[in-house]
Amino acid sequence: MLSERMVKALNDQINAELHSAYIYLAMSAYFADANFPGFAHWMRLQAQEELGHAMKFYDYIIERRGRVQLTALEAPATSWETPLAAFEDALKHEQYISGRINKLASLALEEHDHATGSFLKWFVDEQVEEEASVDAVVQDLKRVQDYPAGLFMLDRELGQRTPAAAEEAGAE
Ligand code: FEO
Repeated sequence: MLSERMVKALNDQINAELHSAYIYLAMSAYFADANFPGFAHWMRLQAQEELGHAMKFYDYIIERRGRVQLTALEAPATSWETPLAAFEDALKHEQYISGRINKLASLALEEHDHATGSFLKWFVDEQVEEEASVDAVVQDLKRVQDYPAGLFMLDRELGQRTPAAAEEAGAE
């Protein structure tokens, strides 16, 4: 059985994952408006992936006979100075999420809750991928941000991201 403290922490993580989806959907809307359909597509898939993460926590709490409780989502930012600024914010956000997952894993250890520790291992690995994939785009954007042709090409490239690739990266 999950402890009260653990149920609360896992519920908080549902909120954090849904908030991630909200942030990436806001970034997708910003990119669509700024005429970067490829970046918009990439962020939209990222938002879907985050919904998948939230549902993994949701299902896990129920499987362990805990009570899922949904709470209010903070509004995301709605615009960024440049595509680079948006992806840099996404990277900072993923680093924040990695920190949260680490804290959850520490709590599971502290409570000798090995089932939750095992469940969280997937997320520990996933965060390494999440940070790396966003950082790769940040590095590309740093190279091309002052060259419209480069931005156009990168937008095209990110528009190729497929749901299957997103799934490999962790979406349900
Ligand atoms: Fe659910 Fe992007 O971490």
